[in-house]
Amino acid sequence: MSIDWPALRAAAVAAASRAYAPYSGLRVGAAGQAADGRVVTGCNVENASYGLTLCAECGLVSALHAAGPEGGSAPLLAVAVVAGDGEPLLPCGRCRQLLLEAGGGELLVDTADGPVELNVLLPAAFTGADVSARRDPATGAAP
Ligand code: THU
Repeated sequence: MSIDWPALRAAAVAAASRAYAPYSGLRVGAAGQAADGRVVTGCNVENASYGLTLCAECGLVSALHAAGPEGGSAPLLAVAVVAGDGEPLLPCGRCRQLLLEAGGGELLVDTADGPVELNVLLPAAFTGADVSARRDPATGAAP
């Protein structure tokens, strides 16, 4: 599936305009294209208890699942994240990990120099395979 990057960036800019960021003043919008063609978005939502802030990518991943089909969402193929100025913003470390779970290492992430694979932004990542390989056998297996 080809990615309409201008449309994805425009969706991220629109999401950033809806950010709730009264504490940092940094609006962030994120838009993602799923393998089934859906475009999902998120914006950052801050809180007076600063540590409770939700990043834009967090909202995007939540929307991917919450508005997706029964039985599980298609993976993300591409993501654009922008600040309120409309320019690309690189996802924070926690959000790189969230995006990895939703799209895998081949997920394309927009940057100021063009799209790059998430593998490049999050090398040597911890994944579900590590959980399976390293869990305590005596504790019992997860599904
Ligand atoms: N923020 C995001 O929404 N995504 C990121 O990847 C980095 C940071 C938000 C969180 C907070 O509301 C503001 O940017 C300043 O850190």
